[in-house]
Amino acid sequence: MKQFTPSRAIARLPDQVFATQANRIAAVRSEGHDVILLGQGTPDQPTPPHILDALKEAISVSSNLQYPPFRGHDFLKEAVAAFYLREFGVEIDASTEVAILLGSKAGIVALPQTIVNPGESVIVPDPGYPDYLSGAALAGAKAVPLPLLEENAFLPDYSLLDPHDVANSRMLFLNYPSNPIGATATAEAFEATVAFADANDICVVHDLAYGGITFDGPTRSFLETPGAKETGIELFSLSKRFNMSGFRIAFAVGNASVISAIETYQDHLYVSAFTPVQLAAEAALLSSQDCVTNLSDLYQARRDVLFAKLEEIGWDAPLSGGSFFVWLPVAPGYTSQQFADKLLHEAHVAVTPGHFFGEYGEGYVRLSLIADASRLAEAINRIKVLGLFTPADVIKF
Ligand SMILES: Cc1ncc(COP(=O)(O)O)c(C=O)c1O
Repeated sequence: MKQFTPSRAIARLPDQVFATQANRIAAVRSEGHDVILLGQGTPDQPTPPHILDALKEAISVSSNLQYPPFRGHDFLKEAVAAFYLREFGVEIDASTEVAILLGSKAGIVALPQTIVNPGESVIVPDPGYPDYLSGAALAGAKAVPLPLLEENAFLPDYSLLDPHDVANSRMLFLNYPSNPIGATATAEAFEATVAFADANDICVVHDLAYGGITFDGPTRSFLETPGAKETGIELFSLSKRFNMSGFRIAFAVGNASVISAIETYQDHLYVSAFTPVQLAAEAALLSSQDCVTNLSDLYQARRDVLFAKLEEIGWDAPLSGGSFFVWLPVAPGYTSQQFADKLLHEAHVAVTPGHFFGEYGEGYVRLSLIADASRLAEAINRIKVLGLFTPADVIKF
C-alpha cells in the first residue's frame, strides 16, 4: 500500500501526550488495580432534565432534522445575547457579535487561521490548555508562552514577554477559570489585558470554558471589562456549565470583525450544529440557572473535602477558585512525570503531570474534582501512606 506523507500542517501539530498517559493508566488497571481516576476533564454529572426534554421534543419534529441555516439559527444567537445581558450586564448584537461553534475546541483550533498569518505569533498561557498550541501550529504561527506564575496568583504579567515576540503577535489566548490551574481572573487582570492588547494590536480570545463554576463569587466575563469588545472575543462553552460535553455546542461572542472572520471560515467547513442541539442550547441559556449553581456547589463541596485532606497530610497547594481542577505542587525531589508515575503505581491514583500543559507546568500535577468526595478523600489517604509530605502539626513540634 502507498504511504502518503502527512502535510506540513499536520506534521507541525504537537504530540498528543494525553494518549500516552491514558495508556500508562490502562496498563495499571489491566493488572486488576482499582485506580482512582483524577486525571480526566470530562464532567461526571448528567445533563439537566429540562435540557434533555428540549432535545427530545426537538428531535421529533422532522423539519428539525434537515440542514440548519449555514450560520446557525437566529433564535440561538438572540438567546446568547439575552444570556450575556442577564448574566454579565453585557450588551451583544445577536446578528454581528455571536458565532455558533461546534464546541469551543473547534473555535480554539480555527481562530488563529482566521486572524493570524504564517510566521506571526500567538501568545498562549503557560501552563494552559494544549489546544491553543494546536491552533497556532495549523496556522503556521509561532506559539509564545505567557508564564503564569504562582507568585502572581497565576494571572498574566505581560512584562515577562519579550518585546520582539509581542511586536510579532496577533492573538492572545487566556482562560479563567483556568484549566489546569483552577485560578480565577480579577477585574484588574482583565483591564491590564485590554490595555496590553489595545497598545499592541493583539486580538484577545478569552476561553470561558468553565463559566458558572466559580467558588468564591460569580464568574467574571472578559466582556464585562471596558473596551473588551474592541480588543477581542470570548468563547463560551455549554459543555461544562450544563454537562453538555457530547452535544458539541459553544459560542464566540464579541468583536464583530473577528466574529465575521470565523463565520466565513465556518461557512466552508460546517453547516452549523444539529437543530435539536441548538434548541437544547437555547433552553439551557434561557431557563433557570439553578442547575449551574447546584453543579458549582457540588464541585465546591468536593474541593473543600479535598483541601481539608491535603492540609491533614501537609500538602500545601494554591486554593482553586473555579473550574474543576486543582493544581498541586509535586513532592520535593520529583519531576511532574516521576511524581504522577509514583502516585499511579504506588497509590493507584491517576493525575495529570503538569508539564503536559507547558514548560511552566513542570513541578505540578493536575487533579480533577470529577469523583465524589469519598473517592477524593480515599485518594489522599492512599497518597498519605507514601509518606511524601509532612503534616503541619508535626512541623510545629
Ligand atoms: C480550557 C478549555 N477550553 C476548551 C475546552 C473545550 O471544550 P468544548 O470543546 O467541549 O467546548 C476545554 C475542554 O476540556 C477546556 O478545558
